[in-house]
Order: sequence, then structure tokens, then C-alpha cells
Amino acid sequence: MLYAHMPYLVLFAWVQVTLSGFAVRAVVEGDLCPEAVIDGTAIPMSVRARASTLFPVTVCELALPAGLLELSIEEQRLPVPDAEKGDVALIGDTGCRIWVPSKGGPDLQNCLDPKAWPFAAIAQNIAAAKPKLVVHVGDYVYRESPCPEEEAGCAKSPHGDNWETWRVDFFEPAKKLLAQAPWLFVRGNHELCDRVGHGWFRLLDPGPYRETCIDETEPYLFSNAGINWIVMDNVAVKDSDDPADPVSAQKYRQQFQQVNQMVHERNWQQAWLVMHEPVWGAKPTKERMRLFNPTLQSAFEAAPKEIQLVLSGHIHYFQVLNSQMIIGISGTKLEKFTQEGSQILFSERPELEFKTWVQFGHVMVREGSQLDLYDLNNQVTQSFTLSGGRLHLLCDQKQ
Ligand SMILES: [Fe+2]
Repeated sequence: MLYAHMPYLVLFAWVQVTLSGFAVRAVVEGDLCPEAVIDGTAIPMSVRARASTLFPVTVCELALPAGLLELSIEEQRLPVPDAEKGDVALIGDTGCRIWVPSKGGPDLQNCLDPKAWPFAAIAQNIAAAKPKLVVHVGDYVYRESPCPEEEAGCAKSPHGDNWETWRVDFFEPAKKLLAQAPWLFVRGNHELCDRVGHGWFRLLDPGPYRETCIDETEPYLFSNAGINWIVMDNVAVKDSDDPADPVSAQKYRQQFQQVNQMVHERNWQQAWLVMHEPVWGAKPTKERMRLFNPTLQSAFEAAPKEIQLVLSGHIHYFQVLNSQMIIGISGTKLEKFTQEGSQILFSERPELEFKTWVQFGHVMVREGSQLDLYDLNNQVTQSFTLSGGRLHLLCDQKQ
């Protein structure tokens, strides 16, 4: 509710990576933006996106200077970016599934049951640990269909690309964590233009606001929390284990060549790549285990050799192989995987050794080299170290 004496009401405020460094953004009721106070000086935020019918809120933005020490909006303290090494939280695939296909039964989660849709609890566990950065590997909104009438678990839920859906599926459950640490938002395929892409560009995309949604954006690089990050938008790739699509593979190969040049310009000796759809993933179907994604694997041959680790989501379990980690486990309904914890091998690619665990949770990166998998009780269930371009399992608490 907007008060008569205030021209705006700040609903959410956060700090995020953009194409030109870190910025503070806010979603407000009203047409005007608040001031951000940076090291004691009040600076007006600019309007990023004006209110519309589907998004009746204003999105405000202000680029942050490097090296700032204190930041607040309306006396709410916000986190400041820290280039020094520190803990980084990794999450992915967080929204509550409401999907009613034209054929077959509905695919639903109980969005009102925190055990069935635990994103808020995961975000609170991470907030308590005060990481230096939160990386979301994509897929924020899963409420795509109206809730079927007889389903109490999603009754009255909003759906589609509008503020109310974004608010309940992402901003409300993430609120404490948005206020606790800077974020890197990676685009997922749910943020494609025909799904919730308009909200993506309005709220979270790292570039300047664009009213016209596009399905592909350029890669970018930044350094934070002691790690060199490469971020790529690969959500337009075909999600298939079909042989590599030559046109699509060439497009991503060119992006990798572009990234290669940027890595060398910065003289980076090592980097981590974040892209929503995994380069390597093992996914069971009724007939057999399928190896994804031949198109991205073909393109990856042109990737910088400095890449030590690839972080992705998209598949809703936790899976590692060699230098790929899949973290699609932070709220959305998990997928079934009967060979949990055991090694999955493909006869045609014997060098690939997948290990998979099906659980909700998040990953915490310690000092840039140890990666701990947490469950909903905030307990570490697996630990990995990264060395020699591979993830090594340190301990499996489940065995
Ligand atoms: Fe996805």
C-alpha cells in the first residue's frame, strides 16, 4: 500500500552483476525511484522500467562505484560487492511447478507446502551463511498454467509472465537472501520470450532494459569473490541428445571464440563458466540413459582452455562429471533417478563418469576450490574439490 506522504514504496531491493559492474536495483510501488545512500551520500536511482499493465511496479537502478563500503535504501542496509575470496552460494531451478499440458495430466507441486516447494527455506539457509555472492543458474518461474480447480496446493496461484507470478515464485521466497548478498542472475530457458522473458528483461537481465524481448544475449565476463566468471546465455539451444545441430553448434562455437579472446585480453589463467543448459548431462528416459547436449559439446571444443568448471542447472537433480556440475535442485520438483550415487557410464564416451544425487538444496563454494552440497537441513551431504580440471568427491555422507 502506497502512503500519501511517500511517492513510492520499496518492495524489494538487491545488488546484482550487470554488464558494467555491480548495480543496485529496486522494485517499487509508485512512479518515482528512491535514493540509494552510498558511503553516506544520497544518490537518486533511475527508472529502469516503468509500470505496465502486467507489471504495475517500477524497476529502479543505480550503477555502483567500485570499492564502496556501505549501501542502503530507505535505511535498509544492502550488501556491497567484495572482490576478495570468500564463500559463493550456487542455486538453480527454484520456482514452483504448475504446468497443465494440452495432453496428459497436470504436473504440479504443492506451492503452499514448504517441504514440497522448499525454495524459501533454502534461501534462508544460505542467507544465514552470509556468502559473498549468490549465483542462480537460471529458471526462476515455473507457474506457467492456471492451477486446476480441484488442486488445493496451488489454489489462487498467479501464473504467466507478470509481476504477481514473479513476486510469489521468486522475489518473496528470495527476499532475505536478496538483502544479504550480491547476486549473479543467469538466464534459464523458462526466461525465454514465449515464457517469462519480458519479466526477465524488466527485472533481472544484466543489460540495459529492453522492451522487446530477444531469445539470445551476448556472453560477458566479470571477477568477484576471488573467481573469474564467464556467463553465457545458451537457453535457445535445442534440449536434445540428437546429434549436434551444425548451425546451432557453430553459433555457440563463435560465442566461445569471442569469450576466448576476452579471457586472453584479461590475461586470466583460470575461469568458471556459468550457463543454464549443461554441456554434459546424463538423463534417464523410459528406454535408456541419454547423454546431453551434443550441440554444446561440439561447440565447447572452441571454449577457452582456462575454463576449470562449468556450472549449470536445467536438470532437476545434482549431478557431477569431470568439470561439470548441475545444480537444478533449489525448489522445483525433482526428477527421478534410480541409480543415485552410482557411476553412470556411456560405452561410446568411457571418459565421462557421472554421479547423481536427488535432493533439494544448494552448493557452497569455499575459498574457490571446495564445493559442498547442502540438503534442506543445512547439512553437507557431499564435498568436492576442484583440481586438475576435475571435481573430486571428498566424502559422501549418504554412504
Ligand atoms: Fe531449464
